[in-house]
Amino acid sequence: MIRNIKFYLDPDQSPKLYFMKVIIINGPNLNLLGKREPSVYGSETFENYFQDLQHRFRQVELEYFQSNIEGEIIDKLHETGFTYDGIILNAAAYTHTSVGIGDAVKGIETPVVEVHISNVYQRENFRHSSYIAPNARGIIAGFGLQSYELALLSFEP
Ligand code: DQA
Repeated sequence: MIRNIKFYLDPDQSPKLYFMKVIIINGPNLNLLGKREPSVYGSETFENYFQDLQHRFRQVELEYFQSNIEGEIIDKLHETGFTYDGIILNAAAYTHTSVGIGDAVKGIETPVVEVHISNVYQRENFRHSSYIAPNARGIIAGFGLQSYELALLSFEP
């Protein structure tokens, strides 16, 4: 179900529709993307990638939120989880530890796609479990930053 339909004006084109409102929520240490373990997570900053994504998906009203604090991620899920059309959630290390974030995903209405930059199943055993997955619409992992756009495409009507 698409909840948000809005018009926007492209400077050189006719009015278009915003079909969806989607938020990307990134968890702990993902503010360090670009600097953090580049062999695993790449060398591009998320801010840079996000700008590019906004540009390429102009028909989507796309937001970005990052926090290193579990409760802030839960608050953001509550805030957006009844009105937005989609949530792309990379809860990072909290994926494997947080019952609270798992319960929040279960308690909201907006579909959540769990995303990971790395292929967590090729890594340590503790990264193979997720408190989010049982209530996620789907999981995308291992495609680098491209994992986010694959998740975004999954929300296209
Ligand atoms: C991650 C994988 C997690 O295991 C890790 O704790 C992260 C990032 C990923 O995007 O690959 O911080 O979610």
